[in-house]
Amino acid sequence: MTDRPVRPAPVVLTPCADGPILVRGEVEIRDGAGQIVPRRRATVALCRCGASAIKPFCDGSHKAIGFRTDDEGSRPEEPTT
Ligand code: FES
Repeated sequence: MTDRPVRPAPVVLTPCADGPILVRGEVEIRDGAGQIVPRRRATVALCRCGASAIKPFCDGSHKAIGFRTDDEGSRPEEPTT
């Protein structure tokens, strides 16, 4: 029997329609100055609307500003009439 190196779990990024990008997995997040931003949770939501007061994390402000994304793949299908 050989000892195989243990592969870390993959990092998964999930864009949310009209909202943040969810990040699951071990990843180092740095700010614009290159400093590590401490994580308090295993899954974090990164702001992509620019309105968050706690960047780089989402604080829910995207809803208040009516942020919309164009990534149709992450948007549930709307019923046709
Ligand atoms: S994406 Fe949520 S506050 Fe920006």
